[in-house]
Amino acid sequence: MQQTISSTRLRLRKSRNDIPPTTRRRYNRLIHQHLLTSGLFNRGSRIAGYLAYDGEPSIDLIIQRQHKANRPFYLPALRKQQLTFKAYRFNDTLANNKFNIPEPTGHQSFNPKYLNTILMPLVGFDGHGNRLGMGGGFYDRTLRFTLPASCKKHPLLIGIAYSQQKVNRLLKQPWDIPLDAVITEQGLQCFSIKSLSLLRPPTR
Ligand SMILES: Nc1ncnc2c1ncn2[C@@H]1O[C@H](COP(=O)(O)OP(=O)(O)OP(=O)(O)O)[C@@H](O)[C@H]1O
Ligand SMILES: [Mg+2]
Repeated sequence: MQQTISSTRLRLRKSRNDIPPTTRRRYNRLIHQHLLTSGLFNRGSRIAGYLAYDGEPSIDLIIQRQHKANRPFYLPALRKQQLTFKAYRFNDTLANNKFNIPEPTGHQSFNPKYLNTILMPLVGFDGHGNRLGMGGGFYDRTLRFTLPASCKKHPLLIGIAYSQQKVNRLLKQPWDIPLDAVITEQGLQCFSIKSLSLLRPPTR
């Protein structure tokens, strides 16, 4: 089983990296448009995301938009085996963490409970909102607090991906935290009741 998951990760990462630059730019613009019309910004301005790595869709236009509107944007930073979030303004100084992923250098960290929305990169997803990440378990550990039904307030989790990253069915492990929605170049797909009520309904 582990073998299958590892080979699925490799296959999906390779095909994501293989997208030609012009196609990638077109897809990124479409993802940006879908983000703008998704209703995500009505939910509150405390939005976290990521800097694209390993062929992930770039959401730099959203980061720039927040910057121009003088609204905060947050990026993950490693803290032991979990992620914390730090404010980031476009073009701020960054420093590489131990995985060579750039992080904001500020000292103030925010707990994910503080955020309205997290835009999450992913390697694969399925039609039920199951998410396959890079395999570190960092997002899963960080978002573990959202699992109990008693947790009423937690950030909306939106996966950002290219549609080719969708797979038939991912085996959900007990620690996996499902996505509320995914946005690809093809549009928004909602998986949770929460996302159906908060975001624009699927376009298909
Ligand atoms: N809540 C948790 N408590 C303890 N260990 C965890 C937890 N979540 C994940 N892990 C560990 O992390 C490892 C990787 O998890 P998994 O394969 O689901 O990563 P991923 O979802 O691809 O990565 P990420 O969450 O960083 O995107 C697993 O072997 C699991 O043991
Ligand atoms: Mg996982």
